[in-house]
Amino acid sequence: MKTVNMPVIAELQHITKTFYHIQYPASSIQHPASRPQHPVLNDLSLIVRRNESIAIVGPSGSGKTTLLNILGTLDKPTSGEVILEGQPVLKMDDDQLAELRNSRIGFVFQLHYLLPQFTLIENVLLPVLPTRDKARQSAAHERAWNLINKVGLTLQAHQRPAELSVGECQRAAVVRALINQPVLLLADEPTGSLDAENATMLASLLNDLKLETELSMVVVTHSMDLAEKMDTIYRLQSGNLAVFDK
Ligand SMILES: Nc1ncnc2c1ncn2[C@@H]1O[C@H](COP(=O)(O)OP(=O)(O)OP(=O)(O)O)[C@@H](O)[C@H]1O
Ligand SMILES: [Mg+2]
Repeated sequence: MKTVNMPVIAELQHITKTFYHIQYPASSIQHPASRPQHPVLNDLSLIVRRNESIAIVGPSGSGKTTLLNILGTLDKPTSGEVILEGQPVLKMDDDQLAELRNSRIGFVFQLHYLLPQFTLIENVLLPVLPTRDKARQSAAHERAWNLINKVGLTLQAHQRPAELSVGECQRAAVVRALINQPVLLLADEPTGSLDAENATMLASLLNDLKLETELSMVVVTHSMDLAEKMDTIYRLQSGNLAVFDK
């Protein structure tokens, strides 16, 4: 689907991110070729439109997670600007950023980060806990059960992460990311730990969501199967994005 006329939801403008590696004071244990600075992203720009799905592929260590963290306001760039729904986010304080992330962005991390002491359904509903609005809570409960059913986890809903398979945890993490109806879903290798059947199920879930809602998504993946289901594929290499022809 063409999304070129849709409003811009998120924008990275001329982002550079440099990491400073730890240097040993004693030169004898310093590798002679080590560099104190490591530019991971280099003048990188990206536009995400409403209801657009973007896949980002690229070699390990190329900066995909770094890019996603900056887009999701979990990390700050060395230079450049991040705009979410028209607002420059780098000027916001921590409370404003937390509120923005909780209400507008859904994250699926490379490691799922479900809390071990809570059951699947409790983990899914965690992002809803801060609200005291009863109507919002009950709408979220209904959404949670619908989504859990959709990803085939109804029977496992009251199990804790240790009693779930890795793939089940990953599917639960996707449901948790969607529970507050974000406008932007950021997913880092969402199918990385899934077998082919579950990976296909998750890819169709993302596609259904895109058709049913106006969700925008940026998905980092090594899977060309998943990447090909997205509107646009970019390859991250040498700190920059290039359109990857399907
Ligand atoms: N906090 C940090 N401090 C120093 N270097 C970092 C930090 N975070 C990431 N890096 C470096 O930045 C580079 C990019 O890391 P990143 O995690 O973004 O890669 P990636 O493309 O997600 O890789 P993968 O596919 O393996 O997940 C790596 O060389 C990594 O060592
Ligand atoms: Mg990564």
